[in-house]
Amino acid sequence: MLKVGFVGWRGMVGSVLMQRMLEENDFALIEPQFFTTSQVGGKGPNVGKDTPALLDAKDINALKAMDAIVSCQGGDYTTEVFPQLRAAGWNGHWIDAASTLRMEKDAVIVLDPVNMHVIQDAYAQGTKNWVGGNCTVSLMLMALNGLFKADLVEWATSMTYQAASGAGAQNMRELLNQMGEAHRVASSFLKDPASAILDIDREVAGTLRDERFPTAHFGVPLAGSLIPWIDKDLGNGQSKEEWKGGVETNKILGREANPVLIDGLCVRIGAMRCHSQALTIKLKKDVPLDEISQMLAEANQWAKVVPNEREASMRELTPAAVTGTLITPVGRLRKLNMGNDYLSAFTVGDQLLWGAAEPLRRMLRILIE
Ligand code: HSE
Repeated sequence: MLKVGFVGWRGMVGSVLMQRMLEENDFALIEPQFFTTSQVGGKGPNVGKDTPALLDAKDINALKAMDAIVSCQGGDYTTEVFPQLRAAGWNGHWIDAASTLRMEKDAVIVLDPVNMHVIQDAYAQGTKNWVGGNCTVSLMLMALNGLFKADLVEWATSMTYQAASGAGAQNMRELLNQMGEAHRVASSFLKDPASAILDIDREVAGTLRDERFPTAHFGVPLAGSLIPWIDKDLGNGQSKEEWKGGVETNKILGREANPVLIDGLCVRIGAMRCHSQALTIKLKKDVPLDEISQMLAEANQWAKVVPNEREASMRELTPAAVTGTLITPVGRLRKLNMGNDYLSAFTVGDQLLWGAAEPLRRMLRILIE
C-alpha cells in the first residue's frame, strides 16, 4: 500500500479533502500518515481506521519515508520544505494545493477530466510534482471542457465573480460579520413596513463607510459592495489572478507552445464558496448552439448545460444552487450580437471542491490505480 503523508489537513481545503476522501473510501487504499506543524504526537483525524501519531511536518526524515505527500499547508510551507526534501534525495510524489510550484517546468497542473493526457505523458516521463490549479481556471476548464477539446476557442475573456472562500476562511467569517453589521444598522427600519427605503440605504451606506466596519481581512467592505481586484498587482494593470487565467489554462491543456488567449477582470463578490464567471468566447468558426451544448454536456460528467432560459438560469446557475456539489454548470449560452462566432457563457463552481481539493484527491487515486 502507498504510504501517503498529509500536511495541512486541518485547514479549509484540507478539511474538504478529508471529507471527500472519506466519501470515496480512499483511505482504505492507502497507508495514511498525518503530519502537523503544532501538535507532534497528537491524534490524526478520524478516517475510518487507526493511524499513527502525528509527525512533525518539518521533519525531513519522517517525510522522506512517504511514497507520496499531499500538502494543503500553503505556499510558505512548500517553499520551505519541498526543496529540502528533494535535496535530501526524496523521489516520491508531491501533490500540492499551493501555487508555488505550479508554473515550474517539472510540475504538472492536475485536472484529470480535462488533462488526463498531459498527466499520463508526464507520469510516463517520470514527473513527480503534481499541483492543483488556480480555482477560477480549474472551474472554467471543467465547465468549458467541450469547447477546448474540440479546439474551438480562438480567445476568451473571463469576467469573474469570486467568492469569499478564495481569500480564506477568515474572510468568509468577515463577510458574514459585515452582512450582520449591515443588517443591524437597518433592522429597526426593516421592522417598520412604512419606513423609507432611502433611510435604510443611508444607514447601510453609513456603516459600510464607517471605520469601525469589520474589514480587517478584506481591507474594504465586501457585503453590500464588491472588490474589483484579486491578488497582487503585477504592475502592468493586470492582477496576478487575471494573469493566471491565461498561463494556467494553457499549461493545463498542454498547449503552451500554441496558447489560447485568455484574459479578463477578476472581481470578488459576496458569495461564500462558489466562483462564477461570465465569458465571451471567440470561436474559431460558427458552430450551431445545439452542437455547442452537446459538446459541453458530453465533455465530462460534471459539466451540466443549463438551458438559456430565465427560470432555469435563476434556479440552477447560481452559487446557492451549486455550493457543496461537484457539478460545474454552464449556461447563458447564446451567440452575441458581435457575430455568430461570438459566444457568451456563464459558469458556476464550488471553489473548494473542483477549485481546490478534488483534483488533488483524484491525482492520488491515479497514483494508486
Ligand atoms: N485566488 C483565488 C481567489 C483562490 O482568491 O479566489 C485560490 O485559487
